[in-house]
Amino acid sequence: MDLRREIVGIDQQVPLLDGRLVNYVNLDNAASTPAFHRVKEKVDQALDLYSSVHRGSGYKSLISTYLYEHARQIVLDFVGANPDYEVVIFGKNTTEAINKLAHRFPFKPGDMVLTSLMEHHSNDLPWRAHAQVVYAEVEEDGRLDMNDLEAKLKQYQGKIKLVAITGASNVTGSMPPIYEIARLAHHYQAQIMVDCAQLLPHRPVMMGEPDTESHLDFITFSGHKIYAPYGSGALIGARQFFNRGEPEYRGGGTIEMVTLQEVEWAEAPERDEAGSPNVIGAVALASALQQLQEVGMEAVAKHEMELTSYALNKLQGIDRVRLYGPTDPNQVDQRVGVIPFAVEGMPHAKLAAILGFEGGVGVRNGCFCAHPYVLRLMKIEREEFLTYRQQVLQHNRADLPGFVRASLGCYNSQDDIDRLADMLEGIAAEEYKGKYEPDLQSGSYYPVGFNYEDLGKAFQF
Ligand SMILES: Cc1ncc(COP(=O)(O)O)c(C=O)c1O
Repeated sequence: MDLRREIVGIDQQVPLLDGRLVNYVNLDNAASTPAFHRVKEKVDQALDLYSSVHRGSGYKSLISTYLYEHARQIVLDFVGANPDYEVVIFGKNTTEAINKLAHRFPFKPGDMVLTSLMEHHSNDLPWRAHAQVVYAEVEEDGRLDMNDLEAKLKQYQGKIKLVAITGASNVTGSMPPIYEIARLAHHYQAQIMVDCAQLLPHRPVMMGEPDTESHLDFITFSGHKIYAPYGSGALIGARQFFNRGEPEYRGGGTIEMVTLQEVEWAEAPERDEAGSPNVIGAVALASALQQLQEVGMEAVAKHEMELTSYALNKLQGIDRVRLYGPTDPNQVDQRVGVIPFAVEGMPHAKLAAILGFEGGVGVRNGCFCAHPYVLRLMKIEREEFLTYRQQVLQHNRADLPGFVRASLGCYNSQDDIDRLADMLEGIAAEEYKGKYEPDLQSGSYYPVGFNYEDLGKAFQF
């Protein structure tokens, strides 16, 4: 199946600075992917049948309830979870899912979470609020330092209750060996949570049987990063775990019975899904997973590995272009297609702006919600960091550290990489047309004369 044809908006033309129209090249999939046609169609179908879920008595309510509950089964199946043991809790996104788990985990004073230096803030800050956090080191090229991870597990044995690790970095694409980490975590009497926001769209993920050493105890992911941008995400873990304790949010849907004196909480997953659920989001997420299952995640991974290898080879050959993270085109089995780069001497925000305004190429720049990791990759010491901090506090973000990131989806092609590489060659040779100026407040660059309001012409509310 040609997944490119499955992407909504794939032929969308966008205007360039000189007025030409070109097909948009989206290389910002790590932030959000476009939707699959299947997802859009299933959402349309579901909307015809949509009504209130759970306690509604009409036909449409019954169907909507069925769709919502059936979506859970599809999600469990996709990640090789055991429906007798595990449960899906739907929510908005990975950030919400991790916050929920951090809130629900029965930490006692002195308990620790082991995470790593390569995490997205969403897999770091929630833990800081509930436990003491220790960080496994990373190697110079951004890969997880497995020796340090094990050393920390050993050092804090008995205190570390959970290892919270990303399945793939949103900055370098590097993939920690999650099943090996699961074995280590269990060996040292800890559980493991894998942040699958970046991994699930690109590789098969199997939670495995609960009684095995490599079993993943909890996983989290977001629909909008896996071709279903309809506001849904998931947290998966043992039903028994979520049947204990009080929910993070309280209210309708979370209870069995309430009197003025007492509350009987509902069982999982309802206990942790306060308020009216996002039925359409769940349908969208399940439809996207079905689409990927039909294609096969091995096929998705193979295509993306070939493309990543192609991109690494091409970008490395361009003068003034510097790649960060692992750069070996022959080791693409240990990373997903997230490629950080810079053009020497050029602010990353300016580079990203030129790619967008003059090449129709969508990328992302900055520190990617992973400040400690980016500072480490860029070898920025504390003293230098403090000057940047001062600038930010003075509302000047024009010159902050960071780089540009190109991130691939299952539908990207060699032509997309060629467009990026051609643009970079031109930019590195200072061949671009616009005059770009920074907006101090946001740190973004825009060509002189650009008016944000003009974008409104592309879509009428
Ligand atoms: C590795 C990783 N974890 C967590 C998140 C947070 O995901 P969301 O914004 O969907 O909550 C992201 C988002 O970029 C991510 O890349």
